Amino acid sequence: MNKKILLSGIKPTGRPHIGNYFGMMKQIVDMQEEYDSFPFIPNYHALTSVHSAEDMQRDTLDVVIDFLAIGLDPEKVNLFKQSDVPQVTELTWIFNCITTMPYLMRAHAFKDSEAKNKDINIGVFDYPILMAADILIQDTDLVPVGKDQIQHVEMARDIAEKFNKIFGETFKLPKSKLVSGVEVVQGTDGQKMSKSYGNTIELFAEDEEIHKAVMSIPTDSKDILESKDPEECNVFALHKLFSTEDELGEIRKKYVEGGMGYKESKDILVKNIQDFIGPLREKRKEIAKNPDKIIEILNKGGEVARQRAEEKMKEVRKKVGLI
Ligand code: ADP
Ligand code: TRP
Repeated sequence: MNKKILLSGIKPTGRPHIGNYFGMMKQIVDMQEEYDSFPFIPNYHALTSVHSAEDMQRDTLDVVIDFLAIGLDPEKVNLFKQSDVPQVTELTWIFNCITTMPYLMRAHAFKDSEAKNKDINIGVFDYPILMAADILIQDTDLVPVGKDQIQHVEMARDIAEKFNKIFGETFKLPKSKLVSGVEVVQGTDGQKMSKSYGNTIELFAEDEEIHKAVMSIPTDSKDILESKDPEECNVFALHKLFSTEDELGEIRKKYVEGGMGYKESKDILVKNIQDFIGPLREKRKEIAKNPDKIIEILNKGGEVARQRAEEKMKEVRKKVGLI
């Protein structure tokens, strides 16, 4: 039986953090056997904010190295970069012509960007449509993403339904997938961890960087013996990701009963994060020594993704009357 199709993208816009890892990257690795997987690097999407060829090229290769370092097997998945499938821009235009402005204006990501800066480019506005094209052109069944991207996947479903209604059954309706418990990984300041907030712990951070980030987490001024509410503590929120169940239970108990100070809690967290990241970081350094191999992997994945997209577009062009 054919496997179901999984697709998801991570933009080449700086170093990934543990929120990206638990929210999205790890899921793709965990599901690579079960699904026919298409992890990709949305470099067209990144163009909405990255306007330096050098940064774009470096960060694109870096994301590939990151994925390989956390265990993605290039023999099992089709890892590719978005611009190797230019058919998605053609499909974006077709979707643009059946989607209304008021509908796109409802996108949270667009509203957030607009609130911050009125001079946003059209790419930011059209972002969900390009994302719908990425998803629908590959007949995707499942899209693993963090919470902030759920609405975009819903929009892809809406657009698929609308196209199917106007031009006849063409696109599969994709579903998103969240990992329970880690929908939103908190940053060192308690907000959502995000590259744009400067509150991240990088996935391949050096030991000293991990130490510095954890020590910067603000806590209240309760002393060691006082009872503390674990659910109110940003250090504890990160323990949930890096502790065994037994260890987490112990820490929770000491918080509630008193007896564990924030310094001790942070020291445990630093050690657990260092133990987790250390081997990944070393593996990453090994992989990065062979850039030709990275490019070969991308080219191979791009070839497969492009061929599938071209087949789909033949059907789409016919359906809308372009041939
Ligand atoms: P950032 O907000 O840091 O710029 P991206 O927008 O590039 O991250 O997100 C890449 C993927 O990682 C998306 O699927 C997103 O939902 C997920 N993700 C990002 N930040 C978090 C987080 N703090 N918790 C869980 N998932 C996240
Ligand atoms: N918008 C996604 C993000 O910011 C990246 C992305 C682009 C994507 N195209 C996609 C994710 C298709 C899943 C499927 O993280």
